[in-house]
Amino acid sequence: MLVRLVDVVKEFNTGRGRLRALDGITLDVRDGEFLAVVGPSGCGKSTLLSIIAGLEAPTSGSVAFLGEQRAQTRTAMVWQDTRLLPWRVVDRNVGLGPEFRGRPEEERRGIVQRFLRKMRLEGFEQFFPRQLSGGMQQRAGIARALANDPEVLLMDEPFAHLDALNRRLMQLELLQVWEQTGKTVVYVTHSIEEAVLLSDRVVVLTAGPGRIKDFVDIDLPRPRSAETLAHPGFQAATARIWQLLEGEARRAEARLLNRE
Ligand SMILES: Nc1ncnc2c1ncn2[C@@H]1O[C@H](COP(=O)(O)OP(=O)(O)OP(=O)(O)O)[C@@H](O)[C@H]1O
Ligand SMILES: [Mg+2]
Repeated sequence: MLVRLVDVVKEFNTGRGRLRALDGITLDVRDGEFLAVVGPSGCGKSTLLSIIAGLEAPTSGSVAFLGEQRAQTRTAMVWQDTRLLPWRVVDRNVGLGPEFRGRPEEERRGIVQRFLRKMRLEGFEQFFPRQLSGGMQQRAGIARALANDPEVLLMDEPFAHLDALNRRLMQLELLQVWEQTGKTVVYVTHSIEEAVLLSDRVVVLTAGPGRIKDFVDIDLPRPRSAETLAHPGFQAATARIWQLLEGEARRAEARLLNRE
């Protein structure tokens, strides 16, 4: 166990009173695992990542990391909208973490070069984010996260904006990077297929307030590749997750309609 959440509840104050986003989440993130989180829109997936990252405090319940350090120094986030600083070139975006921590220039250069190479961005050091394709921007976002040397990489629908072909390429690249680095990953996605292709275990959340509906172990062989998509176990796992999610998705949808 690397991170343990016990009975985590998160409520927000809104114009319509208090809103419960997460309700009684008890979850161990295991060291080195690739954990996917799926659930209907608004069920609290991003909130869950923010709580693990220490960006939000739970209203009640606890989040504990193995060891003493704080969440902020042990996690790094990759966002859907990359959140690269538009006025900084790639090299200076990726070096942000080491720079904030006051690492000497030479060390910072080494770290940046290593992760730019790993994410296949050599030659683009001096490009601004807007000069990169969507896939390359995401690669820079992942390089920036890895440059912080986090134990847990938190990813919030990182490839949702990419076209289907690039999304597939990025998924396969992420699998390689994960295998090379041995990081623990918590990966939020709307895509059942993506969750099954990438992860060791999928946690399925209910329609908001998010509770844990079930866990599904993904026992497909590693290393995974595009061939994994044709594995009979792949079909079985996606069918199982859909079975768990369908009712929740309908509930979330109905709730939205009633609000309008
Ligand atoms: N800072 C906030 N203040 C008030 N309400 C919030 C805040 N952050 C999230 N919420 C609400 O909490 C609920 C869960 O939001 P969250 O963004 O975690 O869901 P999500 O599962 O990530 O959704 P999506 O799939 O659309 O990204 C939603 O109803 C949202 O409106
Ligand atoms: Mg979200």
